Amino acid sequence: MTAIRIEQINHSFGSFKAVEDVSLSFRAGEVLALVGENGAGKTTLMRIVAGELRPSSGVVLLDDEPVSFGSPRQASAAGIEIVHQHLMLISDFTIAENLALAGSGSRSWFRRRDLLRAADETIGRSGMSLPDPGRRVFELSVGERAKLEVIKAVARHPALLILDEPTSVLTPDESASLFELMRRLCSEGTAVVLISHKLPEVFAASDRIAVMRGGRLIRVMAAGQTDPASVVRDMLGGDPAGIDGSMVGWMPAQPPEHGLLADQPTIPRLRCSEVSTAPRDSAPPLRNISFEVGAGEIVSVVGVAGNGQSELAQLLRGIQPRSGGLVEIDGRAMSQRALLEHPAVGHIPEDRTRDGLVAEMTITENLSLASVSWNRQSAMANAKEAIAQFSIRARGPWQPAGELSGGNQQKMILARELGRGTSLVIAAEPTRGLDLGSAEFVHRRLRAAAESGTAILLITSDLDEAYALSGAVHVMYGGRLSRRMTVRQSMESAGALMAGLA
Ligand SMILES: Nc1ncnc2c1ncn2[C@@H]1O[C@H](COP(=O)(O)OP(=O)(O)OP(=O)(O)O)[C@@H](O)[C@H]1O
Ligand SMILES: [Mg+2]
Repeated sequence: MTAIRIEQINHSFGSFKAVEDVSLSFRAGEVLALVGENGAGKTTLMRIVAGELRPSSGVVLLDDEPVSFGSPRQASAAGIEIVHQHLMLISDFTIAENLALAGSGSRSWFRRRDLLRAADETIGRSGMSLPDPGRRVFELSVGERAKLEVIKAVARHPALLILDEPTSVLTPDESASLFELMRRLCSEGTAVVLISHKLPEVFAASDRIAVMRGGRLIRVMAAGQTDPASVVRDMLGGDPAGIDGSMVGWMPAQPPEHGLLADQPTIPRLRCSEVSTAPRDSAPPLRNISFEVGAGEIVSVVGVAGNGQSELAQLLRGIQPRSGGLVEIDGRAMSQRALLEHPAVGHIPEDRTRDGLVAEMTITENLSLASVSWNRQSAMANAKEAIAQFSIRARGPWQPAGELSGGNQQKMILARELGRGTSLVIAAEPTRGLDLGSAEFVHRRLRAAAESGTAILLITSDLDEAYALSGAVHVMYGGRLSRRMTVRQSMESAGALMAGLA
C-alpha cells in the first residue's frame, strides 16, 4: 500500500487563510478522525489531499515522492477517494449507472442486465444495504444516497478513503454497518479519514484523532490516550465559554418537563387530519397521518430515515400532493398551492444544498429569498445581523453561499427561516452537520422561537434531539404515525415503534 502524507499545507481563498501549515500522515490500516468546529478547515484540507484544490503551498507525498494532483481523477488514480458531505451523484441516473460511471460497476453501458448485476455485486461486497440498483438517485433518501457514495468510492479499492461527515445522514444501524466496512477496509490495508461532529462515534470508530481549529492542526492523539472533554477543549481553544457537560451530549439526565404543553395543546397552528399520499415507488406513502402542533409547542416526529418523514415535510411545504385528508393552518384549510405560497411557514429542509439555498447567490441574497420586497441596503444590514447573531463564519454578506462550510450553510438557512417571524416552522434535521456548540445554539433558538409562540414541527432521526426539545413525540414507521406521546411514554416505546416492532 502507498504511504500517503502531507507536509506544511497552506491554503487561502483570496486573502482568507482556510488552512495553515498542516502536516499529517495517513497510516495504512488506521482510521484517523478529523474533528473541529464548523469552518475549521477540515473539508478544505481533505479537498487538497483528494486533488480537488491545489494548495497555495505545501506538498502531498506518496511513498515519500511529492505529487501534484491536477484533478480529482489523478488523485483517484493514485488511490485517494473522497466522499463528500454534500452529495455529488447524478440524480437522473440509476444506482447502477452511477456505479458504472465511477468505473466501479460493469463497463458495458449498453447491457442493462450486466450493469445491474455488477451493481448488485458491488453493493453486496460492501455489506451495506441499498434498494434495487435500477432505482434512480432522485428517488433515494439522503441516507441511501450517502451509502451509494461510499460504495462507489470503496469499489475502487482506495489506499486512502476520506469520508466527510458520512454519518450525519445515516441511521445508527447504517452507521454501524459503515463502521464495520471501515474496519474491514483497514484490515485490508486502507487508510481511512473520518470527519465527524459526533464525538461518541469518533471515539468508538477511530484509532487517532486530529483536531483542527481556525485552519491549523492543533493536536493529533491516539484515541485511547485522550477523552471527549479534552478534544472539545482543543476544538474551542482559548474560548472556554460553553465547555461543560452539555457540549459532549445533549441528552438531559432527566427528560424535560413540558407536561403542560404536551398534554393540553392550545388552538393548533398546524393540524393534519387523516392525510395520505399516493404510492410512489421510492418511499412508503403516507397513510392517514393525524397530528397537531399548537402555538408555542415543539412536536417531534421521530423515525428511521425513509419511513415517510421526507414525504411529510414535502407535503407540508406544498411540493408533494396529497391524495386525501386535511391540512389546516390556524384553522384554515390549506390547498397544496396555499402551502407552497404560505408566507408565514418556515422550512428547514432535509437536503440543504438541494432545497435550502442557491450556492451561486450571496449570503445576503439567500437570506432574502423568502422576502417579498427587496431593498439592497436593508438586505445587507439584515444579513450582517444574521451573520453576527447566528455566528455564521463568513468573510462578509457578499460571499456566495456555496463557499461556506457545510455547518455554516445550515446556520444561514436557520437564520433565514427562524429570523422572519414565522408562526410555524417545519424543521427537518435542523442540526445535521453542525458542531456541538452550533447544535446547542440551534436548540436554544428553536426553544426561544417556541417560547415566543412559534409552533415547531421537528422532524428528526435523532431521538436525543427530540427528547431534548419537545414535549410531545410521534413515531413514524412505514408511512404511518404513532399516537401523540409524552417524552416519558415515548422513552419506553419509541425504539420498538421506530423498528416497526410495536
Ligand atoms: N470555495 C471557497 N471559497 C471561499 N472560501 C471558502 C471556500 N471553501 C471554504 N471556504 C472557507 O474556508 C473555511 C473552512 O471551510 P471548510 O469547509 O474547510 O470547513 P469545515 O471544517 O469543513 O466546516 P464544517 O464542519 O462546517 O463542514 C470556511 O471559513 C469557509 O467559508
Ligand atoms: Mg466540512
